Amino acid sequence: MSAKSEEHEWWQSGVVYQVYPRSFQDANGDGVGDLRGILSRVDYFEWLGVDAVWLSPIYPSPMKDFGYDISDYCGVDPLFGSLEDFDALTAELHRRGMKIVLDFVPNHTSDQHPWFQESRSSRDNPKRAWYIWRNPGPNGAPPNNWLSQFGGEAWEYDGVTGQYYYHAFLKEQPDLNWRNPEVQEAMLNVLRFWLDRGVDGFRVDVIWHIVKDDEFRNNDPDPNYHPGLAPARRLLATYNTDRPEVHHIIERMRDVLDEYGEKMMVGEVYLPLERLVTYYGAQGSGVHLPFNFQLIELPWHARVIADAIDKYEGLLPSYGWPNWVLGNHDNPRIATRIGAAQARVAAMMLLTLRGTPTMYYGEELGMHNVPIPPERVQDPFEKNVPGLGLGRDPERTPMQWSTGPRTGFSEAEPWLPIAEDYASRCVEAQRDDPHSMLTLYRRLLELWRREPALNIGDYRSAPAQGDVLAYRRVEGDSQFLIVLNLGGGAAVFSGMMPVGHVVLSTHLDREGEAFNGRIELRPADGVVVRLEK
Ligand code: GLC
Repeated sequence: MSAKSEEHEWWQSGVVYQVYPRSFQDANGDGVGDLRGILSRVDYFEWLGVDAVWLSPIYPSPMKDFGYDISDYCGVDPLFGSLEDFDALTAELHRRGMKIVLDFVPNHTSDQHPWFQESRSSRDNPKRAWYIWRNPGPNGAPPNNWLSQFGGEAWEYDGVTGQYYYHAFLKEQPDLNWRNPEVQEAMLNVLRFWLDRGVDGFRVDVIWHIVKDDEFRNNDPDPNYHPGLAPARRLLATYNTDRPEVHHIIERMRDVLDEYGEKMMVGEVYLPLERLVTYYGAQGSGVHLPFNFQLIELPWHARVIADAIDKYEGLLPSYGWPNWVLGNHDNPRIATRIGAAQARVAAMMLLTLRGTPTMYYGEELGMHNVPIPPERVQDPFEKNVPGLGLGRDPERTPMQWSTGPRTGFSEAEPWLPIAEDYASRCVEAQRDDPHSMLTLYRRLLELWRREPALNIGDYRSAPAQGDVLAYRRVEGDSQFLIVLNLGGGAAVFSGMMPVGHVVLSTHLDREGEAFNGRIELRPADGVVVRLEK
């Protein structure tokens, strides 16, 4: 059993594991993952040693954005199963002491949601003001210059009523009008619906987008834009995102969660650190964890990352709990970004930094981006803005379970191709291999669970140069030193440290080695050292 402090809540001392339901396990043989499939893998979550499972959207959806376009917030898409399947999964996770976190997508619905169908039917429909409708600008132009994240204008003209509606993403994803109290009530009731069913928390989709400027002012050009970036980056997102009023909405969400006890909200926020930390809310009335995407966004350079950790730690409000993540369903996989060897260093970093770690399914196997032939592209982002490498299919391919046909994911051809090298990067091939990535993750997770210094302890940076990143984690008398070589050459760490011994290394071959204040590192070597008192 774990040795966690009772003063900490589960989402502080626990590890979150993100499942992209379409790609985790297919139980009904249609090539797309489902809830029964996930249920059949609960043993795996337990064996791996994670504390909470976050499911990307499972709700009824036309799947234009693979579930992030929701047509009913209080149901399960038949593709994934039923509410009964969901209840069965929740019960099983809970029975084994694990939590379940759902994706809450408040910014927009599907254009097939009955609310939008009503809203678009006439200007005086009671649901008209549930979405963002504006008159055309001069000569029928869009109301302002805001751009869609997925390419093109963010405004779609609707001939039926002669107005434009706003969509931050696809035109099939109209934005809700969160300034409308009726929308607020309806959406808070969605949270209650799932909390009543036993959900332990929510990952809140694009939370910084929810409220837009009440005057709909034009955005200015971004001087740092260059071709190759997503087209929406041409403009600064000053007036369509991160508006001050968003914090009031988040407070209302938080109040609902607080009605239910120990629940958690993690918010998707892609903003600079100074802005990110405001999402903790004044006195902790915001989201529990505003996602910290630095390890996804920063170059893999020890000095850059060391500075970023210190800056983040320094900016956190006293009541703000940190968090770290290496990947998700919107970003290239870590093994592709930094290579297989450094992905092991990243794993050690993720599971030894201070703050809640979130893993993305398959990271524990070293899964990499899978090239998608043009005829198999699914992601609307890639279809709208082709050729820039923005498509997200490569990081959404099936979880790699076995060396057998279709890697044990499905009886049928999967919706996205399976990696060619799956036979060596699958659970079956790695689970008993003492040097595999999967073994490294399991050992790291085991250490994390066992050692309060690692899961809740303080963070202290340690002086290091060049490609070496070093820090200590401290809780009471217990102290660990983590030394990571982010470079491709040999390196040395030496600091004024007490002596100790290595308890875990990225290559899984240095355990027990003595540490006397100095340690030599091979390329991509990393060690966790237990320091003596
Ligand atoms: C978030 C999701 C992404 C989705 C977008 C629109 O960024 O993570 O997958 O496409 O929101 O809902």
